[in-house]
Amino acid sequence: MEVRKVGVVGLGAMGAGIAQLCVEAGVDTVGREVSSALGERARDRIGHFLTRKVEKGQLEQAARDEAVNRLSLTTELEAFADCDLVIEAIVEELEPKRQLFAELDRICRPDAVLATNTSALSVTEIAAATSRPGRVLGMHFFNPAPLMPLVEIVRAELTEEEPFESAFAFGERIGKTPIRCHDTPGFVVNRVLIPLLNDCIRVLDEARVTPEDLDTGMRNGAGWPMGPCTLVDLVGIDVHVHASEALYEKTREPRMAPPPRLVAMRNAGLLGRKSGRGFYTYST
Ligand code: 3HC
Repeated sequence: MEVRKVGVVGLGAMGAGIAQLCVEAGVDTVGREVSSALGERARDRIGHFLTRKVEKGQLEQAARDEAVNRLSLTTELEAFADCDLVIEAIVEELEPKRQLFAELDRICRPDAVLATNTSALSVTEIAAATSRPGRVLGMHFFNPAPLMPLVEIVRAELTEEEPFESAFAFGERIGKTPIRCHDTPGFVVNRVLIPLLNDCIRVLDEARVTPEDLDTGMRNGAGWPMGPCTLVDLVGIDVHVHASEALYEKTREPRMAPPPRLVAMRNAGLLGRKSGRGFYTYST
């Protein structure tokens, strides 16, 4: 199927990043938020990053304006009725996602592909809320979506070949490097990265090293582009704890469980970059 129009549900950091990729690739995109104020905020964020590209000579001003104009905003799911592909990036909770997919199933054309950007939930359980599980799959982007090349194309138990390959081709069309994988806990990258980041946080206490030194260690000793504390701050301490809990629940592997230090930070409202404070302090 050729994707001419995309819907993105949820325009937080991930959804806005995905919508940015779509409009930059010339695809008409409709973005849905629960209020127009949140939708406008996402459009401003996209506009800001595209303006930076113009300022750095990476994009023409006219192309920037056309890209921003390709994004229409809505608060109504009915606006997805004529979309070929809908990508969901709402809260990482199973029940709200299942409810949303049941609604999308009712509203979207029968041949539309429904994708979830879930990082640690079961795509198969989300797909089971619809009458078209064969056309439901995972498209898992990485944070920050416009900069990270990877998208995991996740095959749920009943995903059919044609929508799966259409999603793979769409990932390539918006400039990503897609990989194919099955619906197992954490898929490929988070299955490896989440326990690894948890180990890093445990090492803070075990080796009595500062976050700065741990980050310096992993950047200079392992070639990471950013240190683990900086990365967890970027992902969001709440998001990381939540993903760890979801993976631990499924695998029962101790390394998946969130380290108590991260849980305490989450409980104290130290959520990383987005809250202004995590391992580091940020001017928001
Ligand atoms: N959206 C769009 N554009 C953005 C952006 C965003 N969120 N953040 C930054 N940019 C743009 C900015 O305009 C910036 O330029 P400017 O500073 O001149 O305005 C430009 O991108 C380049 O930014 P940086 O200079 O910060 O780029 P770097 O070369 O330092 O690379 C990085 C940044 C790609 C994030 C790199 O540090 C990296 O690869 N870090 C690792 C990130 C990672 O591992 N992510 C995966 C997290 S796990 C995950 O997402 C899974 C999930 O399920 C939890």
